[in-house]
Amino acid sequence: RPRVLSGIQPTADSFHFGNYLGALRQWVDLQRDHQPFFFIADLHAITVEQDPKVLRERSLRAAAQLLAMGIDPARSSIFIQSQVPAHAQLGWVLQCLTGFGEARRMTQFKDKSAKQGEGAASVGLFTYPVLQAADILLYRPHYVPVGEDQRQHLELTRDLAQRFNSRYKKTFRLPEPYILKATAKIADLQEPTRKMSKSASSAAGIIDMLDDPKVSAKKVRSAVTDSGSEIRFDTEEKPGVSNLLTIHSALTGTAIGDLEQEYAGRGYGDLKKDLAEIVVDFVTPFRERTLELLDDQAHLTSVLQQGAEAAGAVAEATLRDVYQRVGFVAAA
Ligand code: TYM
Repeated sequence: RPRVLSGIQPTADSFHFGNYLGALRQWVDLQRDHQPFFFIADLHAITVEQDPKVLRERSLRAAAQLLAMGIDPARSSIFIQSQVPAHAQLGWVLQCLTGFGEARRMTQFKDKSAKQGEGAASVGLFTYPVLQAADILLYRPHYVPVGEDQRQHLELTRDLAQRFNSRYKKTFRLPEPYILKATAKIADLQEPTRKMSKSASSAAGIIDMLDDPKVSAKKVRSAVTDSGSEIRFDTEEKPGVSNLLTIHSALTGTAIGDLEQEYAGRGYGDLKKDLAEIVVDFVTPFRERTLELLDDQAHLTSVLQQGAEAAGAVAEATLRDVYQRVGFVAAA
């Protein structure tokens, strides 16, 4: 079975619909006929300052949410990045293979460091994509299911894999991004030309998976729509309506074209009202399940420990190859 790998940062109390529709849903689906490794990227989280207590809580909440949405520990290794030291270890080796200018071109670094001022941004934020490359390459995956915003990091990952392979010896598989076009970029409900983002969106622009469903319904009903009145999928002219159609279609499995027909002659209000109900029906059981899982922390931490052991075995084998090829002396 082909391998897949992906990660998510524990930097909010809840995942949002961009995370879910852009990436996490694919994680669940790919479990069926792939060998998956999924992790909570706590090393990545500390590239910006985190409160230790909150970080720990959020990592466990992230794990509970992954299980609640259907990640099955019998099929997938689910683990916390910091529990597998090989990530940081390979990260260092790859940093030594990355050009300064190459790292500087990463648009996510440019965006994030511009906010704090480049001088104030951590060196970790700068090398973040290189650690991500290590995360991926350790498992030699065929596919990496992510949203569109991660594409550039995957290109860097492939470049670094190729560079290592040609400088030393073929060690890494060149992974393919697995990005579903329809849901690759879920937009902010209030600013539909921008992506829904935990760091950049206003609260009203984000649908959090663990929010009170009534709050989420209200956010959907207050979503910004576009001028005109026709319900049509057109991301240029009607980004707001198109985003609502995308979310509707993804949650109900109805083709966008069929939705356009269903809503022909009806108003934006109808679409928002229906979508609000669909969202409530979706998040209500998800939220209950997550809260149940969070009540049993012993179970949660044991699942994560098993995941870390399974992942660690694979990761360490790759790291051993790397260390040997780079020229490090093996411990006796
Ligand atoms: P993160 O934690 O920001 O987001 C997790 C996943 O959600 C996707 N996503 C979206 N997809 C569609 N529309 C949106 N509005 C939206 N917002 C977020 C992201 O593309 C991502 O797939 N660097 C990664 C974490 C990471 C990783 C890795 C991923 C660390 N190591 C190795 C893959 C492989 C990140 O910050 O994702």
